[in-house]
Parts: sequence; C-alpha cells; structure tokens
Amino acid sequence: LASVEADLSNIEPGSCVTVKWRGKPVFIWHRTEEDIKLANSVDWRYLRHPEKDSDRVKKPEWLVVIGVCTHLGCIPLPHAGEFGGYFCPCHGSHYDTSGRVRKGPAPYNLVVPAYIFLNDNKLLIG
Ligand code: FES
Repeated sequence: LASVEADLSNIEPGSCVTVKWRGKPVFIWHRTEEDIKLANSVDWRYLRHPEKDSDRVKKPEWLVVIGVCTHLGCIPLPHAGEFGGYFCPCHGSHYDTSGRVRKGPAPYNLVVPAYIFLNDNKLLIG
C-alpha cells in the first residue's frame, strides 16, 4: 500500500502509537506542552544533525517519524532515553522529543515521512 491513513482521535496526549507503512513502523506521537517545550529548549544549530523542531512537524502537538534507528535500523523505544524521546537499545542511541539524535552512534535524526492532515483527526502517510 503506497499510503496509509491513521486515525488520531484515540491517541491521548503523551502517547505514541505505531502504524505500518510500506513495511516500516511509523511513530505518531501526540506531544504534550512539556514535550514541545523540551524540543524547543535546545539550540538546534549545535545538534549532530541540526534541524529545528518546527521544520520537523506540521502541527506542534503531532510528531510523525519513521520508527527505524538511523544507525543500523533497529526499532527505537518511545518515551525512553535521556532526552525524553526515543531510545534505541541496540547500540544506545538517544533521540529527543523531536526525534533528533542527541547521543549514541546514530548519524541522523529519525526520518519524517511525507504526510498530510486530511482533517483534525486523520493523517495520510505517504
Ligand atoms: Fe540503533 Fe545501533 S541500530 S543504535
């Protein structure tokens, strides 16, 4: 399937769900104010892979990333690691609440797939 629709209406603030898209997991995280604040509290210019949080999301409360570690392809765990985002247990990469790599061997941030909001409660990925 080239595209997949995701229903956002049951994703509580603070929780992260996984949907499958082209055989890969896509993480959809309903970020809280706190998560968003954390993502913006760092000077992104000094990150390993410098990206602004606002360039990685279409709406601040929704972070959508491909759930594949950019090191060697393991699936990171949500709400884990030292930066409140994702943690990859394979070799210890830590990602923040914007999915940006902050520590460990991963060279790049988690990839943001192409997606659009069909309405307030529906996402089309791909
Ligand atoms: Fe994630 Fe190596 S595959 S840290």
